[in-house]
Amino acid sequence: MSEETAPYGPTIKRIRTHHLREMKERGERFSMLTSYDQLTAQIFDEAGIEVLLVGDSASNNVLGNATSLPITVDELIPLTRAVSGAVERAMVVGDLPFGSYQASPEQGYLTAVRFMKEGGAHCVKLEGGVEMAPQIERMTRGGIPVMAHIGFTPQSEHALGGYRVQGRGDTAERVLRDAEAVQEAGAFAVVMEMVPGDVAAQVTQKLQIPTIGIGAGKECDGQVLVWQDAFGLRTGRMPRFVKQYADLRSVLLDAAKSYDTEVKAGEFPGPEHTF
Ligand code: KIV
Repeated sequence: MSEETAPYGPTIKRIRTHHLREMKERGERFSMLTSYDQLTAQIFDEAGIEVLLVGDSASNNVLGNATSLPITVDELIPLTRAVSGAVERAMVVGDLPFGSYQASPEQGYLTAVRFMKEGGAHCVKLEGGVEMAPQIERMTRGGIPVMAHIGFTPQSEHALGGYRVQGRGDTAERVLRDAEAVQEAGAFAVVMEMVPGDVAAQVTQKLQIPTIGIGAGKECDGQVLVWQDAFGLRTGRMPRFVKQYADLRSVLLDAAKSYDTEVKAGEFPGPEHTF
């Protein structure tokens, strides 16, 4: 994106943690999308998306696994490098895979260092609230900005009893405690997934750091979606919080069928494609 067209003024070339904080303070919203490759990263960066998450959801959106649990650090780092190498302005978040940080703050720090050094990430994301405070403190102390993720945390899907809204009724207090704990530990932002809108609004008002919602209503400071869901590459049953902005599956299917038809009819390649 050229400096003239950058929406946040000519001096901001790279979105940093303090820009998101300042946007919250000014009451401005920001957007985040997942990205796992060079070309979508370039497109989303050009579109003005502030934050790109190289999510562990690459497990089920790129590698063909049923959940985010199987993906490894070694699998996710090359995707992170592809995204960080492609953007000019967006902040790139490396998502720490299941099992790569929960054992201890030291384990978490060493994994986060790999995402920063080998993946070129600008920060990392981890799942958990109160119980992850020591990990967040360690990484922050070691110079790594941390985005927390509370509410429904997909890596704990089996412990949470499946995909369920978190923070309904009496458990709202838990979400609030988690949010305050991650802020206190030094997180610069927090994702809230599948949390009732009124609870997310309360958390957003209470915290100084930005909140980013996915199924957490419109009062969050930012929003995030998985791009294959939002732009219709994946179809079928979708969570209620997904809005589909395009139907890329149909576009690709039609293109692939046209190619197939032309190849089989001997129409492609034409003279203009031939040396
Ligand atoms: O990995 C991912 O895509 C995520 C989002 C759901 C926030 O963590």
